[in-house]
Amino acid sequence: GRVWTGIGDLDEAAAGRAVLIRGAAQAIRPVSKKMAFVVLRQSMSTVQCVLVASADAGVSTQMVRFATSLSKESIVDVEGVVSLPKEPLKATTQQVEIQVRKIYCINRAIPTLPINLEDASRSEAEFEKAEQAGEKLVRVGQDTRLNFRAIDLRTPANQAIFRIQCQVENKFRDFFLSKNFVGIHSPKLISGSSEGGAAVFKLQYNGQPACLAQSPQLYKQMAICGGFERVFEVGPVFRAENSNTHRHLCEFVGLDAEMEIKEHYFEVCDIIDGLFVAIFKHLNENCKKELETINRQYPFEPLKYLEKTLKLTYEEGIQMLKEAGTEIEPMGDLNTEAEKKLGRLVKEKYGTEFFILYRYPLAVRPFYTMPCYDNPAYSNSFDVFIRGEEIISGAQRIHTPELLTKRATECGIDASTIASYIESFSYGAPPHGGFGVGLERVVMLFCALNNIRKTSLFPRDPQRLVP
Ligand code: 4AD
Repeated sequence: GRVWTGIGDLDEAAAGRAVLIRGAAQAIRPVSKKMAFVVLRQSMSTVQCVLVASADAGVSTQMVRFATSLSKESIVDVEGVVSLPKEPLKATTQQVEIQVRKIYCINRAIPTLPINLEDASRSEAEFEKAEQAGEKLVRVGQDTRLNFRAIDLRTPANQAIFRIQCQVENKFRDFFLSKNFVGIHSPKLISGSSEGGAAVFKLQYNGQPACLAQSPQLYKQMAICGGFERVFEVGPVFRAENSNTHRHLCEFVGLDAEMEIKEHYFEVCDIIDGLFVAIFKHLNENCKKELETINRQYPFEPLKYLEKTLKLTYEEGIQMLKEAGTEIEPMGDLNTEAEKKLGRLVKEKYGTEFFILYRYPLAVRPFYTMPCYDNPAYSNSFDVFIRGEEIISGAQRIHTPELLTKRATECGIDASTIASYIESFSYGAPPHGGFGVGLERVVMLFCALNNIRKTSLFPRDPQRLVP
């Protein structure tokens, strides 16, 4: 076969070389009957192709006319020679041009697309500037973007966001494998709620009531009972709650871990510390291009974090809020506003936007959470925050059937519905703990994006099942 070159690989070193490339026609500019420009795009890269009618190059005026008749976003193949431009190119990522010898349309896009990609790629600042200059530009709303996601995903920022997401997931796996965790897959068709509460998607399982797993919680703990000292899972999580917010999805990707605890549940916090510092470093060092691309459309400040992750008790958090004038019920949960405010206070005082808040009141945690040994009104549990929003919740778990039954009952759960889970702890079960992270939230908050739908490829929220 012929040798194809990726558009992102076209650089000055390729000058003079004959290449074959494929891309989407992002812009088509007729100059005269004898000349036209076509900008081709392949994922995050663009290159300018130049057509000049000339007998020497075998380019006819018909070929130039054919090029100018292409519809935007059509898939186009070009054979040509790489050349250096006379002036720096502002409109393309690649700083070379292609002198076209042959051009083929592989598949035509409809003439008028429901989303204009140029508009969909602009930053808010660009819109404002254009407005001040009296120009009329069309903002593409979130719903329109999601309705036509197959086009919307082509914007440079979206191309970058999902590359970042892939890197976070990969780093998560790498890190756990390096710490002797075993990757598992727990069932997603299960018989009842795993987090307590009623927010599950119900279905029929061969005539038996069932639901989609709210988390791998019960099964990852049973895997620990099954003799795996440390496990992790990457998989879908289903939540049926009717939360129409910027940070809730009905289906998201859960990154979960569960491990034996030898002496103290801070061993779990140490894993989180190592894991997230490694992820942040990796993104900052190895994904510069992606981060810059996101920054161009959605400007953000790099995340502030410490080499050793800050840990504060829940009580200290409440105290900081109190001193700043926010009254909080000391044994209640933090609401979204309080979390945001605490995030700002911690950033001011400790210079970090990533921290662990531990020792939560037992009453606000799920039934499987281990109460504190010294004061059972509190629990061996924690949440982790990025930029004042929760990304992780975790805890030591109860590992004796008696206490587990008691706590389930106190939390209004009929222990007989989770009998096989509770029994698992009567066959010899080590102390253990773990945590769950939402992948979409990590990417959203690392990049300070304002909506979790931006970091879900095809988001599922209470209103959306299509596309
Ligand atoms: O806080 P959650 O519900 O905790 C659990 O599922 C526990 N089983 C975890 C554990 O091991 N103790 O969910 C964990 C994380 C949250 O911190 C958040 O990042 C994410 O999952 N998350 C959501 N992400 C998107 N949409 C939603 N509706 C989410 N609910 C939770």
